[in-house]
Amino acid sequence: MSEVKQALAQAADAARFAPSIHNTQPWRWVVRGDRLELFAAGERQLPAHDPDARMLLVSCGAALHHAQVALDAQGWAYAVERPGSLTPDAPLAVITAGERRDADPEATRHLQMLQVRRTDRRTVRDETVSEAVLNELVKAAEQFGARLHLLRRDQVLDLAVAVERAQSAEAADDRARAELAGWVGGERPDGTGIPSSALPDEVPLTTVAERDFQVAGTVPAGGGHDRFATYAVLYGPGDTEADWLRAGESLSRLWLAATEHAVSVLPFSGPVEVPFTREALTRMLGGTGVPYLAIRFGLQDAAQAAPPHTPRLPATQVITIEE
Ligand SMILES: Cc1cc2nc3c(=O)[nH]c(=O)nc-3n(C[C@H](O)[C@H](O)[C@H](O)COP(=O)(O)O)c2cc1C
Repeated sequence: MSEVKQALAQAADAARFAPSIHNTQPWRWVVRGDRLELFAAGERQLPAHDPDARMLLVSCGAALHHAQVALDAQGWAYAVERPGSLTPDAPLAVITAGERRDADPEATRHLQMLQVRRTDRRTVRDETVSEAVLNELVKAAEQFGARLHLLRRDQVLDLAVAVERAQSAEAADDRARAELAGWVGGERPDGTGIPSSALPDEVPLTTVAERDFQVAGTVPAGGGHDRFATYAVLYGPGDTEADWLRAGESLSRLWLAATEHAVSVLPFSGPVEVPFTREALTRMLGGTGVPYLAIRFGLQDAAQAAPPHTPRLPATQVITIEE
């Protein structure tokens, strides 16, 4: 295999670590010459929770950013096109490799971070994330066009209401309940979905309720609360498929920065999935943009073991290398 093909295959392999809605990993990669093409894996879309594929696109955007980190860390120049459209058989994005260049030290660190990163649903400890670090996360998100709005205390209460309403709407929907049951709980031997080992043993008592996956997990939830957490909304100017893809790149970028600073990250997509709570979040943003995801940032007790990583599909199932 040529050097460039090998680098692109390694980038697609690194992208397998990306976060995705319910760990669906809704992506497929094709290495073709000096191009790495990203496709949506429609068979892993969630029709009940995500009929418009917003969360699928955010997930694919996170994978796209992971691939870029790997190329930067390996010392390759590249260009990214983002047609971003969900047209069957058309790529969501294409990375074209260019010349060799010096490896980027930040990307080298982030390549390590993407293997350490995880979703952390344990309660956070009684210490706030510093303003300097929060500012860094805001800047990190902006590198890919989305923005991070840090919520004031009164807005956290509004978010709590939106999360609760979205949770009730989805819990009352038979299709959504059945869909959740298909992706969550147990050991997940097929390499997708959220195993019980990534879920708290009880739903923690927090102001903003964590997603109720309807399955008891095995992670000690922690005796804490979310009083010292910082909540934010990732948002941006547009509501097109390309905007949602870029939101995923921003999410990955800020999550790797957060991981570097030992800041735990928990996404809340319920209020964005449900149309009337998505509107409530839009109002919270004062009409300045479209909400892509709510996020909790916090600090964990370093003495407690972190939950194990969620499984991933094998590379052979998500990466094709054309002759
Ligand atoms: C777009 C998106 C939405 C998500 N929404 C939620 C959510 O509402 N609640 C939650 O607990 N986790 C949520 N997650 C986290 C995923 O469940 C998690 O990324 C996946 O299970 C893989 O686990 P990992 O992040 O630990 O690698 C979301 C992740 C993404 C990318």
